[in-house]
Amino acid sequence: MGTGGPEVRTGRGPLTEAELDDWYAVPPGRSDGPWVRGGFVTTLDGRAAGPDGRSGSLNEGSDGDGAAFSTLRRWAQAVVVGAGTARAEGYGPLEGSTLVVVTRSGDVPDRLAEHTDVLVVSGEGEDVTPQRVLETCAGHGWDRVVVEGGPALFGAWVAARVVDELCVTVRPVLAGGDGPLLLPSGTTLPGLTGRLTHLLEWEGDLLVRTLLR
Ligand SMILES: NC(=O)c1ccc[n+]([C@@H]2O[C@H](COP(=O)([O-])OP(=O)(O)OC[C@H]3O[C@@H](n4cnc5c(N)ncnc54)[C@H](OP(=O)(O)O)[C@@H]3O)[C@@H](O)[C@H]2O)c1
Repeated sequence: MGTGGPEVRTGRGPLTEAELDDWYAVPPGRSDGPWVRGGFVTTLDGRAAGPDGRSGSLNEGSDGDGAAFSTLRRWAQAVVVGAGTARAEGYGPLEGSTLVVVTRSGDVPDRLAEHTDVLVVSGEGEDVTPQRVLETCAGHGWDRVVVEGGPALFGAWVAARVVDELCVTVRPVLAGGDGPLLLPSGTTLPGLTGRLTHLLEWEGDLLVRTLLR
């Protein structure tokens, strides 16, 4: 793990939309082919949801996280979520990219299951491997993939080493409680994982880009 060094780009927000697009550009030399990003907000104690069981209570009032979220959405061709997140966060079809919902049970809200701009990848009772989702995306020509969670899905993707980069907003607060962590406890990794490349401070929030492979 590297935690610093000259290759780390640092800055301070607010940034304009054009500056954000530059800030979140894929690293030079790695822009050919698929690029898979995780996009999250978390607290200092690693919580991925607030007391109401949603991420909205974590990023409320965070212009930095709003900017990061919009920038990743603008960049993405496919936005992948687990069905738990789609249900908890009330996801609907997206503008400019395709929502890909991953489910074991097939329990996907009608507004998503019946929408032509939403792709449901169901395991019909079994796990759906990240490779299967990524092959489905590749089949549509979607190389720019953002995984917005939730933790269960993201943990499986990180453990399978298919995530190139984690883009996370760290809010300087503690949430406590027993809500989900960014990675579910028990997620097996080979060791400390990640190499910081970008660190942006925006009104007290830290917008972190970390390479995972
Ligand atoms: N802080 C953030 O940035 C952020 C981001 C996203 C979510 N969240 C929060 O995280 C919480 C939800 O967490 P979660 O871990 O339960 O979310 P999740 O991973 O989105 O949902 C779990 C569900 O997704 C499906 N799923 C996950 N992995 C699968 C796999 N490998 N194969 C097939 N289906 C799979 C299953 O759906 P079925 O049950 O349909 O089989 C599973 O029950 C909510 O509180 C949400 O607000 C926070």
